[in-house]
Amino acid sequence: MATSTKNTAPLRVGLLGLGTVGQGVLRVLAQNGDEIERRLGRRIVVSHIAMRDPSAKRDCDLSGVTICATAAEVVAADVDVIAELIGGMQPAQNLVLDAIARGKPVITANKALIAEHGNEIFAAAQAKNVFVGFEAAVAGGIPIIKAVREGLSANRIDSLAGIINGTSNYILTQMSRRGIAFAEALAEAQKLGYAEADPTFDVEGIDAAHKLNILASLAFGTPLRFSAVATEGISQVLPQDIQLAQELGYRIKSLGIAKHASANGEDTVELRVHPTLVPVDHLLAKTDGALNAIRVHGNAVGQTVFVGKGAGGDATASAVIADLIDAARWLAAPAQAVPYLGFGSSALKEARALAFAEIESAYYLRLKVADEPGVLRAITSILADLDISVEAILQKEPGENEDATLAIITSQIPESRCNRALEKLSELTFVRAGWSRLRVEHFED
Ligand code: HSE
Repeated sequence: MATSTKNTAPLRVGLLGLGTVGQGVLRVLAQNGDEIERRLGRRIVVSHIAMRDPSAKRDCDLSGVTICATAAEVVAADVDVIAELIGGMQPAQNLVLDAIARGKPVITANKALIAEHGNEIFAAAQAKNVFVGFEAAVAGGIPIIKAVREGLSANRIDSLAGIINGTSNYILTQMSRRGIAFAEALAEAQKLGYAEADPTFDVEGIDAAHKLNILASLAFGTPLRFSAVATEGISQVLPQDIQLAQELGYRIKSLGIAKHASANGEDTVELRVHPTLVPVDHLLAKTDGALNAIRVHGNAVGQTVFVGKGAGGDATASAVIADLIDAARWLAAPAQAVPYLGFGSSALKEARALAFAEIESAYYLRLKVADEPGVLRAITSILADLDISVEAILQKEPGENEDATLAIITSQIPESRCNRALEKLSELTFVRAGWSRLRVEHFED
């Protein structure tokens, strides 16, 4: 049980899982232990660990650590804090709930668990008055949870947008720099260890949807609702689109976008993950490789952008250990807890999630058309009839006996209207099959 007397004994951590992040935690604690102790006033030691394969080769020192046969044994052991670094739904969920039931603070790097079961976990933790830290669940080493929940707490946050999946960003960056196809870039990302065990989580936007769901709740004070996130993956993006976007002044990034609005007595949220054209001079457009970047817009502070490593053992360990420090401070003064989502549970407010068909955006359209007179006029007249302005247009001259390619950037329009335009354009005999439609995002300062 927590007490308010000053405790200088080492904080004993029980680690569940010794994969990339777990090893990072041991390494960073070994390397920075003195500095961390200087900040906290007590040492942090990993005292117990459970791992799936004790015989696997590892890059960290386990001397003095009790190796338990099961994760459940670690949760039951004489430790002060539990760090769940297993990932996935089960047994992680039961282990976290077991730790909470025992009154032990829990740290987790598990984005899927928080995104899909965070409401129940926080309710259980609140009932027992137990600390739960999840900084490592979003954007690895970037302290974005704390920034949104605490650093920006004076603001009404209306939107955030971020590159929150390093694998997708690596793939799009390599396709852009080297003109390689999606499949080749994905194989490289897997070899470099960026991808999830199931890489469809990365390339279909599910991993980013987990993280976006968490960020949106912190930003807008809405309960977690993973099913509300609309996703489109990056596998449909062709090197040709990247090239055309570049010529139009954009880079294609997979963004998680969250927006909150209140109108006519109704609160709505847009939660979407999709490939997005970003103006080339914006910081998000310049964030390449496996890096993550998150733009948060608050009504007092304006635009803020946080950039850094979104994955990797040591970078993610930085977030886990920051939470361990907070857990130790909470153990010393449990009354001073920050609400899990930055808003007290009774202050969380539902908002209706918009489907893709209900959003508004600017769009990039790529069409393959016959190289004939009058084609451009027919296309622009269909767009004009639907009150869609053309902001930019690019025509690629075809080779002999080939079709021409048109790339169009539209004005801001309802997505339903963009879909109607595409239906009408597809009916034209000189518009060939195989068009592409991507969303474009512009950012205010
Ligand atoms: N697969 C994830 C990514 C790892 O690529 O960002 C970090 O969550």
